[in-house]
Amino acid sequence: MHAYPPLGVEVRTPRLVLAGATDERLARLLPVVRAGVVGPEPLPFDDPMSLYADSPEREWRWLRGIWAGRAQVDPDRWRLYFVVLVDDEPVGMQDLVGTDFSRFGSVTTFSWLAPGARGNGIGSEMRGAILHLAFDGFGAREATSEAFVDNHASNRVSERLGYEPNGSDWATRRGDAAMLRRWRLTRERWAESRRADIGLAGVEECRPVLGLCPGPGCSPAAPRRIGCGHDEQAAATHRRHCRGSDRPCPAGGRGRCHRGVRSLGHHG
Ligand SMILES: CC(C)(COP(=O)(O)OP(=O)(O)OC[C@H]1O[C@@H](n2cnc3c(N)ncnc32)[C@H](O)[C@@H]1OP(=O)(O)O)[C@@H](O)C(=O)NCCC(=O)NCCS
Repeated sequence: MHAYPPLGVEVRTPRLVLAGATDERLARLLPVVRAGVVGPEPLPFDDPMSLYADSPEREWRWLRGIWAGRAQVDPDRWRLYFVVLVDDEPVGMQDLVGTDFSRFGSVTTFSWLAPGARGNGIGSEMRGAILHLAFDGFGAREATSEAFVDNHASNRVSERLGYEPNGSDWATRRGDAAMLRRWRLTRERWAESRRADIGLAGVEECRPVLGLCPGPGCSPAAPRRIGCGHDEQAAATHRRHCRGSDRPCPAGGRGRCHRGVRSLGHHG
């Protein structure tokens, strides 16, 4: 439990724990960043990326980037940072990003592991863990991911977890153009292999910080079920989303709820 709910969220699997990136945990992970996260070519990250910098600038920029991201959390855009712990040892990071999440229900992910921890299934396990948080904990409708075409490990993690190809895009990598492969995992596809051995903690406390009702029945994926014992703050969130549609707002707002209607056109 942490005084600031996003830092108190925890995801547990049989192999690892994703724990909110508190300063204490970042300090424990810092030696890994200092030793270097980028391995031999092909380079994994697009620009700009603190992890390409030389030490100690690398560690400073890495910390500042996380602090800045943590400070910007609001319902329109949030990023949750997790330290990956294996046998209580920090070995990497797994982030979850939501942009206008209460409307679109879409998340994306970002991750890295210490070079010595790669190739043992931990990358797949931590992505599976963060997907469980997104779909089961926050009620996401879909998750997306992208990686350079030559980043075989990341692309394979996506493929193996059921994501489907979703086109391509360009980005720069150390200043040069490189192609990204894009992936998309729908809630329905995720549910086909939903795991029963992953535990979540601190989610209810965190949901209002992201503009969601505290209760699990309320989510972008289940717009008809909102109004589940919500508090005033959550009800206000729903009223913001319920103007000008043809469905009664279950949260008690005056207008009508358009979130489900929009979803049919946009992500259906
Ligand atoms: C991407 C990353 C998190 C994946 O973690 P990982 O622990 O190495 O991945 P896993 O061991 O779970 O392997 C996942 C799959 O990729 C395959 N794979 C792993 N490394 C590979 C490589 N270098 N080349 C080809 N395939 C590879 C594995 O065989 C496995 O496939 P399988 O399920 O068919 O056996 C990790 O490699 C990493 O930190 N890379 C650098 C940072 C990065 O690329 N981040 C993502 C930015 S988009």
